[in-house]
Amino acid sequence: MLPPVQFRPFEEDDLYEVLRLANETLDESYEGGLFLHFARLYPEGFIVATEGEEIIGFVLGTIQRAYEARILALAVKPSWRRKGIATQLTERFLERFARFGVRRVTLEVRVSNEPAIGLYQRMGFEKKGMLERYYGDGEDAYVMALTLG
Ligand code: COA
Repeated sequence: MLPPVQFRPFEEDDLYEVLRLANETLDESYEGGLFLHFARLYPEGFIVATEGEEIIGFVLGTIQRAYEARILALAVKPSWRRKGIATQLTERFLERFARFGVRRVTLEVRVSNEPAIGLYQRMGFEKKGMLERYYGDGEDAYVMALTLG
C-alpha cells in the first residue's frame, strides 16, 4: 500500500530541499536560479511529493512548443523508490499539462538509466531516437515521447 504521501505544487520555500534532492540523485548539477526560473514560467510543471514536512520527490517540466511539454527532471529519494511515487508525479504532470492543451510530452534519458526507462515505458513513452554524447560525461541519451490520448 502507498505510504501517506501528498502531492502539491512547488513553492519557492521548497527550493533548497528540492535542489539538494536533485543534486544528490541526478547526475547533472542544477542551479537554484534555473529551478526558480522554470517554476515562475511554468508553475503547473513543477510538482513535489511530500511525506510530512519532508520533500521526497519532484518532477519539473516546461512547455517546449505549442502542444508539447518536456520533462526536465524527475527524482525520488532512494528510500522511497518502487512505491509508485514517480508514477504519480508523472501522472499529475501529464494531467496538468493536458488541461493546457498539451498533446505530446518528450524527455531525454541516459541510455544506462534502466529504472527511468522502465518507468517511462510503463507509462506509455516510446524511444524515438538517440542523441549521441548528449551528457557532459559523453553518455548518449534516448529521446522518449508520449502522445496524450
Ligand atoms: N529497475 C527497473 N524498473 C524500475 C526501477 C528499477 N530500479 N525503478 C522503477 N522501475 C519501473 C518499474 O516498472 C516500476 O514498476 P514496479 O515497481 O511495479 O515494477 C515503475 O518504473 C514505476 O516505478 P515508481 O515506483 O513509480 O518509480 P520510483 O518512485 O521508484 O522513481 C525514478 C523512479 C527513476 C524517478 C527513481 O529511481 C530516481 O529518482 N532515480 C534517480 C533519478 C533519475 O534517474 N531520474 C530520471 C532522470 S530522466
